[in-house]
Amino acid sequence: MTLAVLSDIHSNHLALAACLAAAKRRGVSAYIFLGDYISDCAYPQKTLALLYDWAASHDCRFIRGNREEYMAAYADGKITGWQNGSATGSLLYTYENLSAKDLAWFRTLANVGRGDFPGHPPFLYCHGAPWQTTGTLPEGSPAAIEKLRALPEGCILCGHTHRMGVYLLAGPGPTPKTIARAGSVGYPLTTPGQAQMLLLHSTEDGAPRWYPEYVLVPYDVQAAVQELYTSGLMERAPVWSAMTAHALLTGENMAGLLPPYAQSLYEKDTGQKVPYPAIPEPYWQKAAGVFHCQK
Ligand SMILES: [Fe+2]
Repeated sequence: MTLAVLSDIHSNHLALAACLAAAKRRGVSAYIFLGDYISDCAYPQKTLALLYDWAASHDCRFIRGNREEYMAAYADGKITGWQNGSATGSLLYTYENLSAKDLAWFRTLANVGRGDFPGHPPFLYCHGAPWQTTGTLPEGSPAAIEKLRALPEGCILCGHTHRMGVYLLAGPGPTPKTIARAGSVGYPLTTPGQAQMLLLHSTEDGAPRWYPEYVLVPYDVQAAVQELYTSGLMERAPVWSAMTAHALLTGENMAGLLPPYAQSLYEKDTGQKVPYPAIPEPYWQKAAGVFHCQK
């Protein structure tokens, strides 16, 4: 038996379609989706249509990521103030392209799922961490490690970091707990132009167990970047979308560097601190020039 684990599609329907076709060729019998289906890339409705369509004829399990949480919270008025511009224009664009059906679906999704396949060891799956969609595994704090050790499942699947990797958490028993990061289908870091997908194969060497295989799936990254322009996203969220294009084309993530630098430029000019996301657009543009990250 082979399972496909797909995380962090981020509206990249071209990468998703390539992964689903590759999984089909590999004889995958069930699909585990770890959230962040939408936002950042263009035309979220295309990604959602593909997911709904696939789920109608395949065994698919879904949980939610932080981006689905943001969309539901914005719809409920728990988050406000999204507007065109580099800070929140991409989120607003995504929200405006969702239907009532999409939002209702996001609300049905649980934060954590359990993989129970008869005759196989169970595993837990989450977006960031079991206790928070924006968490990151493996976490280094003693409290987080104890919480992970206390889980009954021997294997935990997660996404959110957009990076692939398997980690072993030792003790207290003889068998280490396995944490497998699924990487990212649509916003893959370190593997530009190649969507990341985790396959879990079942094997019977002594006792039934899962073993991971990481698969890189080429897709039309130039077309994905082009859609940032044709959709209007590059106009509505200029620097944010330029960072997305940069990440798609190079595998490098600017989102952790460029916005703080824009904040520091503002503080240097005005002597005032500016909280995120209130950074004025000219400071996004100045920072983008320094990082060579403009449309
Ligand atoms: Fe995420």
